[in-house]
Amino acid sequence: MRKIPLTLDIISTGKYIPSGTITNEDLEKLVDTSDEWIVSHTGIKTRHKAIGENTSDLAYKAAVNAIEKGKVDKETIDAIIVATITADFASPSMAAIVQARLGLNHRDITCFDVNAACTGFVYALQMATALLNTGPYRHILVIGAEVLTKILDYTDRNTCILFGDGAGAMIVRQGKEHQHAYFYTASEGDVEDVLSVKEILRMQGRRVFKFAINAVEKSINRLLELDGSRLDQITKIIPHQANYRIIDGVAELKKIPLNKFFLNLEQYGNTSAASIPIALDEYLQERSLHSGDKLMMIGFGAGLTWGGVVFTQ
Ligand code: UT7
Repeated sequence: MRKIPLTLDIISTGKYIPSGTITNEDLEKLVDTSDEWIVSHTGIKTRHKAIGENTSDLAYKAAVNAIEKGKVDKETIDAIIVATITADFASPSMAAIVQARLGLNHRDITCFDVNAACTGFVYALQMATALLNTGPYRHILVIGAEVLTKILDYTDRNTCILFGDGAGAMIVRQGKEHQHAYFYTASEGDVEDVLSVKEILRMQGRRVFKFAINAVEKSINRLLELDGSRLDQITKIIPHQANYRIIDGVAELKKIPLNKFFLNLEQYGNTSAASIPIALDEYLQERSLHSGDKLMMIGFGAGLTWGGVVFTQ
């Protein structure tokens, strides 16, 4: 792949977390597990559950939050991209549904969904950045939204303890020259159902664990190479929030201090395509971006897919 920096400016982020919760104690009543096992093997304590809401509802609410926080005139949104593997239905796309709910059906805008599982938000942001750098797009709304609880088997302790529902959104525009982004995205067709959703989510946990550590390490290396920077120049890494031990494993392997990573999986579990934008929103609430900051976002998941972006403010 050629090395081409694209300009990018993150105007705002937003999120929507449904109010229902599933604690480890709740799961103890459903499967043979314990709070101690879940916390020690994953770092997760709680996850959220959408009650009476579907993926498009979560996506819409996260979008409204990003629009309001960024004080963006929604009439200047020229494209909507939603990353999800739990769309309400196959068609119309969640992006088109969000367009309608935002009252933007009178405008000619580009709307489509991206299916790259837990790497979906990175893929969607890459598509948005490419559109911004080539087309007449002013603002693009990028959303990661999932209602994973509807595809979980609550008799399978290997999977049901890990995942939760949520949505995150980001509004982006073309950046100034120094605000640039390098993307690295990849996949390897999973013909052995290492991690798949064929109505119900199924996973070979150990294999995914090994794949994930390798994918995150590879993504960090590739992004540093593309950006021409060193790890100590990266302000924060926002990884896909799957399992504390995956991040801890990468940190140990690459001798990265654990506090270089932003983690919030304790509260939300793995929300697939929504995990990176939710985490980013919470990180930016703690600390806004300063000129020269470098953020890395890294995803990995079903497909198998993996990859990331390194963004310089
Ligand atoms: O977005 C990407 C999505 N997926 C992931 O990120 C998942 C990646 N994989 C993982 O996070 C880990 O592999 C898991 C958390 C799923 C499992 O942890 P592990 O340390 O790899 O456990 P394991 O699968 O090797 O199983 C160890 C033992 C087994 O029992 P035996 O055979 O040793 O008696 C499992 O049956 O732990 C058992 N086990 C559980 N015990 C209590 C598996 N799940 C549970 C559970 N509670 N929920």
